[in-house]
Amino acid sequence: MRKILITGATRGIGKAICAELAADTHILVGGRNAEAVANLVAQLPCASPFVADLLSEDEVTKACAEISELDGLVLNAGIGFAKTVADTTRAEWTEMLLTNVVAQADLTRQLLPALRATRGQVVAINSGAGFNAGPGWAAYSASKFAFRAFTDSLREEERGKIRVSSVHPGRVDTDMQIALQESFGRAYNPADHLRPESVAKAVRAVLDATPEACLETVSVRPA
Ligand SMILES: NC(=O)c1ccc[n+]([C@@H]2O[C@H](COP(=O)([O-])OP(=O)(O)OC[C@H]3O[C@@H](n4cnc5c(N)ncnc54)[C@H](OP(=O)(O)O)[C@@H]3O)[C@@H](O)[C@H]2O)c1
Repeated sequence: MRKILITGATRGIGKAICAELAADTHILVGGRNAEAVANLVAQLPCASPFVADLLSEDEVTKACAEISELDGLVLNAGIGFAKTVADTTRAEWTEMLLTNVVAQADLTRQLLPALRATRGQVVAINSGAGFNAGPGWAAYSASKFAFRAFTDSLREEERGKIRVSSVHPGRVDTDMQIALQESFGRAYNPADHLRPESVAKAVRAVLDATPEACLETVSVRPA
C-alpha cells in the first residue's frame, strides 16, 4: 500500500485529503497536536502519527528520522491572514514566510531521499493567491508566490526522480477562510466556498496520475 504524509491533517483541507485517500493509502497523519493526531489515526483504517510543529527544525528532524521510503508528501499545513502592508509587522511577515515557505522547504529536503527511493510525489497545496496579489494579501500572496517558486525549482531539479505538483484552490470552507472573512467584517456563508472534499478529490487525481505523467499545476476554482 502506498504511504503518504499529509501535513496539517487534523483540520480543514488536510483532514478531507485523509478521508479521500483512506481506502487505499497508509496515511502518515501530520500535525503538531499529538492528541488530535492520535484521534485521527484511530479513525483511519491504515495510519500512523507524524507529530511535529513544522516551525521546529528539531521536531521535524526527529519525526522524519524513521522514514526511509515515502510515496507521497502533501504539503498542506499553512497559515493565512489578510492585512495591509501598513499594518503587517515584521513578526507577522516572519511567521508567514517561515510557516508557508521555509518550513515546507526544510521538511521536503529532509524527506527527499525517502521520496526518491520510491520515485514518489510532492503535492504542494498552494492557492489562487500564489498567482495573484491584491490589497490586504501582500504577506500571504508573497508566501504562496515563493511556495510556487519552490515547487517550480524542485520539479526541474528532481525531474525523472520524483514528481512535483502544485494545487491552487480558490476559497475553501475551512477555519482559515472563516477567520479571513471575519477579519474583513464580512458575513460567512459556507455555500460561497469550495468544499474541502472537492480539493481532496483534486489531490487524489494528482496522486493517481499514471507514473509517466505529472499534473504539474492544478487550479481548483468554484464552478
Ligand atoms: N481555506 C482556503 O480558502 C484556502 C484556499 C487556498 C489554499 N489554502 C491552503 O490550504 C492549506 C490548508 O488550509 P486550510 O484552509 O485547511 O487551513 P486550516 O483549517 O487553518 O488548517 C491549517 C492546518 O495547518 C496546520 N499548521 C499550521 N501551522 C503549522 C505548524 N507550524 N506546524 C504544523 N502544522 C501547522 C494546522 O494545525 P493546527 O490544527 O495544529 O493549528 C492545521 O491543521 C493551507 O496551506 C492554505 O494556505 C486554503
